[in-house]
Amino acid sequence: MAEGFAFDLQATDGRARTGVIRTPRGEIRTPAFMPVGTAGTVKAMLPGSVRETGADVLLGNTYHLMLRPGAERIDRLGGLHRFMNWDRPILTDSGGFQVMSLAELRKLTEDGVTFRSHIDGSKHALSPERSMEIQRLLGSDIVMCFDECPALPAEEAQVAESMRLSMRWAARSKEAFGDRPGHALFGIQQGGVTRDLRAESAEALTAVGFDGYAIGGLAVGEGQAAMFGVLDYAPEMLPRDRPRYLMGVGKPDDIVGAVARGVDMMDCVLPTRSGRTGQAFTRRGVVNIKNARHQDDPRPLDEDCACPACRAYCRAYLHHVFRSQEIISSMLLTWHNLHYFQEIMAGMRAAIADGRFEAWQSQFHAQRQEGDI
Ligand code: GUN
Ligand code: ZN
Repeated sequence: MAEGFAFDLQATDGRARTGVIRTPRGEIRTPAFMPVGTAGTVKAMLPGSVRETGADVLLGNTYHLMLRPGAERIDRLGGLHRFMNWDRPILTDSGGFQVMSLAELRKLTEDGVTFRSHIDGSKHALSPERSMEIQRLLGSDIVMCFDECPALPAEEAQVAESMRLSMRWAARSKEAFGDRPGHALFGIQQGGVTRDLRAESAEALTAVGFDGYAIGGLAVGEGQAAMFGVLDYAPEMLPRDRPRYLMGVGKPDDIVGAVARGVDMMDCVLPTRSGRTGQAFTRRGVVNIKNARHQDDPRPLDEDCACPACRAYCRAYLHHVFRSQEIISSMLLTWHNLHYFQEIMAGMRAAIADGRFEAWQSQFHAQRQEGDI
């Protein structure tokens, strides 16, 4: 890996792995869940609180930060870590994926993409070279290649063409990234749900050589069964001695299934976004706190949870502050959700280390009920 980085694989259990990514800004215990701090904040949480939930690394977004407040401004102010007061590792996504889902009037060429901001309609451009520059200005510890990702379902020919463009962009990303001790660059595998395309993509990436490898282009509408189908072969196409990062996943059972198939890192807006829309994830299932049946309930969200929302508040209170649109509602539910996601990760790491991941998974699924609990 890059100078200052190491990936120590400490134990495997079936296809599941546990280990540590060592970085100059601290260790990332894997399997790792990365809370999303899109715009320089994990919404409704102070950085110290995010750390208290057990997070080792945050995700930031090139797309959002280049538009507002601007990468050059963040650089002048000392970089993203100092700007947002998080001194541990930050991984940044490269922007291409967000342009495709958020920006307006997008134009895609071999060179890159031009688009209009979803915030104010201003015109911008991204390319592998500009994405690497922005992620350098942000001070990102783990930089992602600039890629493109079609929404599924898509014609296989279109998925192939898009994947090959992403592979040419990956080579340009590596060239533009150069040699930056203390900073790592991850490639992103594409290829949709087609095994041959995934294999071709993995070969192209490993020929260039990256510090870690992401599996992209999943959780884009294909469903869990199709995603697990790809994860039954895709991780093994990537180098065993490098971290494998599944982008944008997912629900608790997606995360557990991905780890069981050899994934080391994940990120998702689900715990934070759901926290703001009144949805809590618990070991017994999902709680929709806005539901009227919680209005007189003196019990906590989850009796067995040690987070501040569950230690000090009852469901009736959480229901009340959600209905009243009080800011503390987002704070408490986000804290609970992040705490729960990190507890899943810690449980999986311990179980894999002890060779009891199969039993851990059975217990995880047995506790859960479908629907609203
Ligand atoms: N986030 C979720 N999926 C993807 C992907 O395929 N590429 C990138 N860059 N980010 C993602
Ligand atoms: Zn809790």
